[in-house]
Parts: sequence; C-alpha cells; structure tokens
Amino acid sequence: MITKPKGCHDIYGIEGKKWQYVSNLIDGVCDKYNYSFIRTPIFESTELFHRGVGETSDIVSKETYDFIDRGDRKMTLRPEGTAGVVRSYIENKMYGDATQPVKLYYNGTMYRYERPQSGRDRELTQFGMEVIGSDDPFTDAEIISMAVNIYRLVGLKGIKVNINSLGDLESRSKYREALVNYFKPHVDELCDDCKNRLEKNPLRVLDCKVDNHLQIMKDAPRILDYLNEDSKNRFEAVKKYLGLMDIEYIVNPNVVRGLDYYCHTVFEIEADIKDFGSQNVLGAGGRYNGLAKELGGPDVSGVGFAMGIGRLMLAIEKEGIELPINTKLDAFVMYVSDTEKDYAATLVQELRMSGFRIDTEYTGRGLKGQFKQADRLNSKYLIILNDSDLENNLITVKNNTTKEEVKIEIDYLLYYLDECLISEDDHNHDGCDCGCEDEDDHNCNCGDDCDCGDDCNCGNDCDCGDDCSCNHN
Ligand code: HAM
Repeated sequence: MITKPKGCHDIYGIEGKKWQYVSNLIDGVCDKYNYSFIRTPIFESTELFHRGVGETSDIVSKETYDFIDRGDRKMTLRPEGTAGVVRSYIENKMYGDATQPVKLYYNGTMYRYERPQSGRDRELTQFGMEVIGSDDPFTDAEIISMAVNIYRLVGLKGIKVNINSLGDLESRSKYREALVNYFKPHVDELCDDCKNRLEKNPLRVLDCKVDNHLQIMKDAPRILDYLNEDSKNRFEAVKKYLGLMDIEYIVNPNVVRGLDYYCHTVFEIEADIKDFGSQNVLGAGGRYNGLAKELGGPDVSGVGFAMGIGRLMLAIEKEGIELPINTKLDAFVMYVSDTEKDYAATLVQELRMSGFRIDTEYTGRGLKGQFKQADRLNSKYLIILNDSDLENNLITVKNNTTKEEVKIEIDYLLYYLDECLISEDDHNHDGCDCGCEDEDDHNCNCGDDCDCGDDCNCGNDCDCGDDCSCNHN
C-alpha cells in the first residue's frame, strides 16, 4: 500500500467541512479588514529563501525541500509565505500603486523538513496577512488585532498574545554585542546549534528550545533595555494602538522569532489550553522592513502574520468548540426503474440549480437501501420517484423526521420544498441558541439575513446582544 509522506495529512469528511468553515471565516475577516487575496507559487527559486549571508533561521538553513528541476534550476518548496508575497510585490511593481500600503492575504500549503509531531508537520497550511508599504505602528497593531479577532470568532478562549520589539539595526547591534559578551563565558553550556547561532545571530540563542531551561538564558540581557529612542517610541505606539483596539497582550522579551527578516515588532499567539502540547504557537508574525530591499526591490516596510490551520484545528478540538457545520441534505432523490432514474437525473439538476442541497442514488441500491442511505446522509426530505406517479405528473415527498408523506404535483415541488425547509427553519428558531422566541422579537445582529435556523453559526455562546460577533449572513 502506498501511504502518505510523513508529517502530511489527508483532510476529508467532517474534518474537511471544519477546515472549509474555518477558511471561509478567515476569508470573511480578511475581507472586513480590506485585505485582498494573493496566490503565489508553491515553489520558488531557492535564492528567494536561502539568501546567504547571516542565514541562521532553522527554517531556511536546514528545513527546506530543495530540488533541481529538469532545466537545472535550483528550486525550493516554500517554507513560508512572506518571502513569496514580497517577491510578487516587487515583481509586479505593486509599489507603484497609489493605494499604498498594499494589504494582502493568502491561504496555502508550506513545506518544512521538520521532525513531525503533534502540531508540527512537514506539509502545513497557513493563512497569512501582509501589509507592505507602511511603516506606521498602527499597521502592526492592526495585524495583531486581525489575528486575535480570527481566534475570537472561531470561539477560542485560551489564547495569549506575546509581543516584543527587536528594535532597529542600531538597537539590535548594541544588543547583539551585549548578548555575545554575556554568553561567551558560558559557551560550553550551550547546545551545538546555539554555539553556531552565537557566532552568526546571537538573538536566536534566546529562541532555543533545547537550552531554554538554563538559568543563563533566564538571566540574559533583555532587548527592551537596548532599544534606542525611535525603537522605544514605536513599540510604545504599537502598545497604545493595541490598547485602543482592546487587544490584551503580554510583553515577552524572549520572543525573537525563527526567521531572520524581522525588526521592531515581533509577536506570537500561544494556545493557553491544557494538554495542548509543545507546539503551542498558533500563529506569529512581525515587522520586516529590510526584506523588500534585500530582495532587490524598493526600501519599503512590511508587517505580517501567519497562522497554522492545523494547529488552529487542534485548538478547536482541545477546547471542545462545536463549529456550526451543516451536515444535512435538503433532500435525497430516490428511484428504482430506469425511467425513474432518467427523471431523477433531470430533477437533481433542477433542484441543485435552484439552490437546494441534494443527493441521490448511484450504486444500484433498492428502495430499502436508499432509505438507509438517506438517513446516513442526514437528509431532511425524501423525494420518492415512482413511474405511475410520474405518468400522472405527481411526486412523493416525505419528511424524514416526522415521516409524514405527501403526494404533490410535480410543478409544485420547488415551491413546496422551499416552504417546508423555511418552516422547518422557523420551527428550529424556537430552539435557537440566540434565545429569541420567534422571528418578530428576534433582535439578533448576527447579520441581516440570519434566519437562526439549522445553519446559523451564532455559536453556543451567542447572546444576540450588541456584542454578538458572528458574521453569518
Ligand atoms: P512561522 O512562525 O514560521 O512564521 O509560522 C507561522 C505559523 O505557522 C506558526 O505559528 C504555526 O502555527 C504554523 N507552523 C509553522 N511551522 C509549522 C509546522 N511545521 N507544522 C504545523 N504548523 C506550523 C511564518 O511563517 C512567517 N511567514 C509569518 C509572517 C508573516 N511574518 C510576517 N508575515
């Protein structure tokens, strides 16, 4: 049997529906923040990620999937999205667009040759957001608020926002010197990776997962004490805007991030959930002012964030969040004879084109088997075709919950089904989590067209008050 590669996943069934729900929700948030979608290649020239001098990031120094293509070009499966987006910004001359900054978001798979464990995959899916062309700390705060809002909307309670500033070049080089002087006498206590990092990029020593228990790590100088005036002011401004946006955060000087391109604001959003495991950073990002220039573009600033969808799904599961996934069919069309089957082919097409969620029989089951199949597929209604009924322009519709059955004129079917489904939604309205009794006293502000029926995603905690945060239309 051929199996999937290590560290990769097949996402399907109810899990697939949950991924789609979460992806749609994030799409919705990006739209509200006015970010537009960008799709860049999954593989790029190796030099985009391996930029040479000073490269100490684990992700690019040893964890990429590199290959030579048939034209002898060095290619790399993207380990992250930012470099590709900035490459595209430069290549497509988006900097020439008057509507700076350019706000972009993406959703796609990334590839990292890491040792797989829960929450750490070789093929991972990220949603990422980037603002390119603004140096304003307001955008740093906006990116963080956007990430937090996504987690809030999904329903996650246990998240912790850790922020830090790496300052500008001047601040970092002073800090770097201080760190080297501090760690040098302790070099033998450090792991081999850190010995190497101390030479090339000492800040990354603080990020080490192997040595982080050591007392020397805890007593190390803090970057925040080395920020120059400008860097300090910027960090203060980011914190001010976060406060104005009502985003809670913790200043954590140990957040230095695993990619080499960051300066000023860096942040990580952690799952604060019992038994989540060690891979608990749900999403992370920061400012990367030098990157566009390093890639041969203009000297523009950027800030962004990426969240792992796999880790988000784990968090949703660990917190027991019930996503409002609609697994119900509107109707299952049943037939036995060939003429009934031909009629079914036309009918399912018409019903689907009219907006109903419809399925039918494809494997030659008898009627009994089709009833069972309709139950498995959670069908609200059964449309039972029968030759003699069809000759008389009639069709049988059965409510699969109450088992009530009616024979109606075929021409009336669409209207009838529509009415039944609407009244079913009204009926469910009584038991709606929003707590409203009927449509008239329904003050839910979930969205203009929310009908609070089966598909309502107000979520269990929706109280339909002013603060209801669902975006169901
Ligand atoms: P990153 O911290 O490398 O940042 O990845 C962002 C998120 O992707 C992580 O917080 C985690 O949720 C998820 N992730 C990373 N590696 C794995 C893995 N092996 N398995 C599962 N999930 C993973 C970046 O990628 C930057 N490009 C973020 C950014 C955007 N900075 C500025 N703009």
